Amino acid sequence: MSSKEQIKMNALPSHVAIIMDGNGRWAKEKGKLRVFGHQNGVKAVRDTVEAAAELGIQNLTLYAFSTENWNRPKLEVSALMELLVATISKETKTLMENNIRLNAIGDLSQLPKNCFKELQAAMEKTKGNSRMTLHLALSYSAKWEITNAVKLIADKVKQDTLSIADINEEIISAHLTTKDFPDPELLIRTSGEHRISNFLLWQIAYAELYFTDKLWPDFRREDLYEAIVDFQNRERRFGKTSEQVSV
Ligand code: FPP
Repeated sequence: MSSKEQIKMNALPSHVAIIMDGNGRWAKEKGKLRVFGHQNGVKAVRDTVEAAAELGIQNLTLYAFSTENWNRPKLEVSALMELLVATISKETKTLMENNIRLNAIGDLSQLPKNCFKELQAAMEKTKGNSRMTLHLALSYSAKWEITNAVKLIADKVKQDTLSIADINEEIISAHLTTKDFPDPELLIRTSGEHRISNFLLWQIAYAELYFTDKLWPDFRREDLYEAIVDFQNRERRFGKTSEQVSV
């Protein structure tokens, strides 16, 4: 039976998040520049987005650029930004045809103007789409996001619109960039690295983690299916005992 046939359609994760890693190594293996890896990474993005939407996954988050990635060589950063602009502009039509909404999380004020504009236009155009939301994490880091939430909450306390006693997990979640969406249930990282790299630290408290050795440009829909089958075969206990969750 193929992986796709093994998927229980009534038990899909409502939110899948992916740390796309290994573009540079993929290019190096082929004797090419790192940018070649990123360009081929877009093919993996396309196939994964299409497959996730076809399955009926409600939310897919892709870690496309971290706040730490700004420290990469200037040439690589500008090539990545150009690639983002070109991909968003080219794929908006496909997002519309497939009823997919585009959302972005991160410190978007740091993006180059043309990238920010293209992103805003695509988000505006696709905002009424309802089949799946594709979240791009851009200039994102969880520590930035949590720091930002603390500032917002502190300001409300200072303005007397929120009391310290009322600060709870829900209030904190409501000040994160992901406030309108469910937390990821499945987090996938490619390229054999077993790290979270400052990604959605608050939101993945109970996510199932799935690591594959595949380098991101080689990742295809079958790999997503395999990750989902693996997810569905796990027992999610949320701190309870096995006996408690099996009743
Ligand atoms: C990690 O590989 C990849 C990135 C930092 C960028 C991901 C970008 C894309 C896949 C292209 C555009 C994306 C969208 C959503 C349009 P790495 O460079 O860290 O690889 P390495 O660990 O092998 O060096």
